[in-house]
Amino acid sequence: MDVEQMGSDLGQVLLTKEQIDERLAEMAKQIDEDYAGKNLLLVGVLKGAIYVMADLSRLLSQSVPMDWMAVSSYGSGTKSSGVVRILKDLDSDLTGRHVLIVEDIIDSGLTLSWLVGNLSSRGAASVEIATLLRKPEAAKVEVDVRYVGFDIPNEFVIGYGLDYAEKYRNLPFVGTLAPHVYGG
Ligand code: XMP
Ligand code: MG
Repeated sequence: MDVEQMGSDLGQVLLTKEQIDERLAEMAKQIDEDYAGKNLLLVGVLKGAIYVMADLSRLLSQSVPMDWMAVSSYGSGTKSSGVVRILKDLDSDLTGRHVLIVEDIIDSGLTLSWLVGNLSSRGAASVEIATLLRKPEAAKVEVDVRYVGFDIPNEFVIGYGLDYAEKYRNLPFVGTLAPHVYGG
């Protein structure tokens, strides 16, 4: 799927595939350095982080195990409920592991701050976050994020794993929705 197939549903392209690739390569280089010789586990947050995980992990120079969690803090709308529920838990034991949570986006920060607390309580040696996107203006809680791809304006975005009611995840870029799509 690409710009043409979105037709009038697309607001504007915020980040192109090229910009995303370039930034992920920089983040991977940093992660390589920071975790050299450490027992690293990548934890992807389903479903939004699948593309970030796929592309970021392939840019790392070492073989790195990955695991997945699904949590829910959103319905099909565009506002955070603040309620976090585990829909799918990890398969791995975190004892002594250096966990790097891989996320698509940090909005209010509620999901991630809850997740960091949850994973830390399982005996991980460290828990850090790598996110492609962050909306600084939307922050409701402070979350210490080690790797941030891009800070973006406080607008609902889609593409590169991010959906609106399960649509548009498979866009190769990150864009905004035209207001008519969500009744704005
Ligand atoms: P919080 O507010 O807890 O939210 O930081 C994090 C989760 O909310 C979803 N989210 C979005 N999904 N476009 C999306 O498609 C957005 O602009 C957006 N903002 C937040 C996302 O699942 C993220 O993990
Ligand atoms: Mg997500």
